[in-house]
This record gives sequence, C-alpha cells and structure tokens, in this order.
Amino acid sequence: MMKTVDRCGARIPALGYGTYGMGRADMMRMLPAALKVGFRHVDTAQVYRNEAEVGECIEASGLARAEVFITTKVWVANYPDRQFAASVDESLKKLRTDYIDLLLLHWPNDTVPLSEQIGALNAVARAGKVRHIGVSNFNRALMAQATTLSDLPLVVNQFEYHPYLDQTLMLDAARDAGLAVMAYCGMAVGRVLSDPVLAAIAAAQGRSIAQVVLRWLIQQDGVVALSRTTHKARLAENLAVFDFELGAPEMAAIHALAQPGSRIVSPPGLAPVWDDAPA
Ligand SMILES: NC(=O)c1ccc[n+]([C@@H]2O[C@H](COP(=O)([O-])OP(=O)(O)OC[C@H]3O[C@@H](n4cnc5c(N)ncnc54)[C@H](OP(=O)(O)O)[C@@H]3O)[C@@H](O)[C@H]2O)c1
Repeated sequence: MMKTVDRCGARIPALGYGTYGMGRADMMRMLPAALKVGFRHVDTAQVYRNEAEVGECIEASGLARAEVFITTKVWVANYPDRQFAASVDESLKKLRTDYIDLLLLHWPNDTVPLSEQIGALNAVARAGKVRHIGVSNFNRALMAQATTLSDLPLVVNQFEYHPYLDQTLMLDAARDAGLAVMAYCGMAVGRVLSDPVLAAIAAAQGRSIAQVVLRWLIQQDGVVALSRTTHKARLAENLAVFDFELGAPEMAAIHALAQPGSRIVSPPGLAPVWDDAPA
C-alpha cells in the first residue's frame, strides 16, 4: 500500500516515477507499465521534453486524473513574468490536463528577481492551474527567502539525496519550514548497487539494494523518493518498499555511508552554493 507524504493539503505519493533523460521510445515503453504496476506519481519537467508522453500515457492508462499525482518543473528560462504562465499553459496542454498537482521552480535563477518567480508561481496556483507549489535545488537561504515571499505554502524542495550525500542541514531546514523533501538520484547513478554495507542489509532483509535505499529514503519523516528505471522488471521491485521496515541500526548504518564530495548533480551556472554538511 503506497503511503503519502502530506503537507498543507497536498497528499504526495511517497514514491514517484522519475523520467529524467527518457525520450519518447522509453517513455511509451515504460510509463504505461509503471502505471499498471501501481506507480501513482510521475515526476517530469519542461526541460525533459517528455511532458507530452506523460500526458499521453496517463490518458491511455484509463486511470482517473485524480488517481495520478503529476509533478512538473518550470525551466529557468521561463521565469520572467511574461513567459511563466504561458509555459505552464504549454505544460498543461502537453500533459493533457487542466491542473498540475505540483509545480516546482527547477533551479535557482538570480537573473529574475525571486519575488517575481514566487509571484508567478502563486498566480498560476490561484488561477487553478496548479494545486501545489514548491522549489527544486534551492539551498537553505533561498528556501527561506522563497517561503517568506510566498503567500501560498511551498510544499516541496526537490534535491539530490542518497546514502553518500549528507543532507542533514537541508532536511532539518525543510522540516522546520514545513516543506516535504523530494529526493532525486537515490541510486547515486548506480554507485549504491555495489556497496557492501547496503548488500549486507539487503541480504538480511531478503531485499535488493535498490529496495533498501528506496525504503531508507521513504522511511524518513517527510521524504518522497523518486525512482527511474528503463527495465520493466525493476518497476515492481522498486515499488515493493511499503511492506518492510529497516531497523534503527540499519537506518543509522546507511546514514553513516555519507562522505564529503559525493554530490553528483551540480551544473555550473545553475547550482547554488550548496549547504553541504561540514567535512
Ligand atoms: N530536480 C532536479 O534537478 C533533478 C535532477 C535529477 C533527477 N531528478 C528527478 O529524479 C528522478 C530520479 O533520479 P535519477 O533519474 O537519477 O534516478 P535513480 O532512480 O536515482 O537512478 C536511476 C538509475 O538506477 C538504476 N536502477 C533503478 N532501479 C534499479 C534496480 N532496481 N536495480 C538496479 N538498478 C536500478 C537505473 O538503471 P536502469 O534504467 O538500467 O534500471 C538508473 O541507471 C529523475 O528521473 C528525475 O525525475 C530531478
């Protein structure tokens, strides 16, 4: 049974299907299977260029719109006021829906005043085009500024989080500000899969390493995990993380895998100064 992370009226399925880097062929092969197996949350973005496939697959799935939670993200080039709403209209059209469940600012962009970005995010929510709003890749200072500037609650900050990256500072700040965390790159681009500590926990639990890592993420208060796979057989595997529990020593052992310098995604020109835990 899929659990939800609830924030300010948003009920976010704790596991989402990630679609970064997936072109039409992969999307049309994988997303129908993901929905069939039970994924009820899809994470996309304007810049992924696959919102149209998300819309097409959800429509063809026969699921009611309300049964699927759609997260998408506005690309940084669309932050100026005159483009923002038009880009969201374009997303709605591609997604074949009249509302987006959760709309995020994809990365910080200091060429547009943050007040303008947050104002535009609030405006599309007020217009009924978006149910909930949030940010992605915002550091603590930006998250605090954004929260202050926003009339409507920000419900999510989506950022990189996996066993090798200590995100204690960000997790605490997000919790204090009332935001849920949406974790991306949980598999640390495959690094976790050959980890001996994770392998031992997986063996003890009779689970795969991927399942243990996804479970570790969603077992933390207020954390939603995103999971991407291009293998159909792995969909059911990755979804089967709601019927077992990691013990406190196992959770702690996974937290202890964090090492400085483990950040994977940090594009120059987009990434803020990260709030990494001190070395
Ligand atoms: N906001 C942002 O800036 C941002 C940045 C990055 C990502 N994201 C979002 O977060 C999502 C998740 O991050 P991610 O794409 O890096 O995905 P991920 O789920 O952390 O890792 C995907 C990798 O793990 C492998 N994998 C998945 N399940 C597996 C399993 N059961 N056994 C073995 N290998 C497995 C996949 O290989 P196979 O395909 O071969 O199974 C793939 O190479 C993205 O798709 C995107 O939606 C957002």
